Amino acid sequence: MVVMEIIFQILLSIHNLVRWLILILMSLVLIYGILIWIYQKKNQLSFKSLENTNLFKINKKIFFYLFIVINIQFLIGFTLYPLSTLVIGGWNHLSESIKVKEVRFFMVEHPVLMVVLLGIIHAINGYLKKENENFYKIQTFLIVLSFLIILYGVPWFRPIFRLL
Ligand code: HEM
Repeated sequence: MVVMEIIFQILLSIHNLVRWLILILMSLVLIYGILIWIYQKKNQLSFKSLENTNLFKINKKIFFYLFIVINIQFLIGFTLYPLSTLVIGGWNHLSESIKVKEVRFFMVEHPVLMVVLLGIIHAINGYLKKENENFYKIQTFLIVLSFLIILYGVPWFRPIFRLL
């Protein structure tokens, strides 16, 4: 039991810190996406002709890191879920816990919104592979949407940095 508690605390700290990595990578993808979108529009370029530019290569690389990190964050989140005493207690006393904002947040709102976020990141990946002409417009829109989801779906009331 003590071992499980230690594992939970370690994973929770990693989960806490990885959120910042996600935000940094998302900000970079947003900046690069807007820059390429402006560059593409100004020079009337097709998606294909952008492929050899440095901007394209850097955006693709940062997005790839974001994709990996978000998927890892999900695996950690799904591991935390059945270990969390808050969540387990919540499911065991459903009728009362659903009325408690913080418990309901971790039982339902947080995981559901984060699954939506994962879907959006996978959608961007799909558009990138399909070489969509409007890719940078779509990427910018979807990343802004992701920021809004993170703003609402991440427990900002918890410690900003958790170091065990
Ligand atoms: C990009 C995706 C995600 C981000 C950015 C994120 C972020 C966070 C943050 C910042 C915390 C608070 C950590 C702390 O208290 O120090 C947290 C807690 C938690 N998250 Fe996530 N999360 C994500 C995805 C998920 C998913 C998909 C699940 C579950 C299916 C999940 C389950 C949990 C649980 C169970 C807790 C801890 C509840 C407790 O303290 O008992 N997370 N998350």
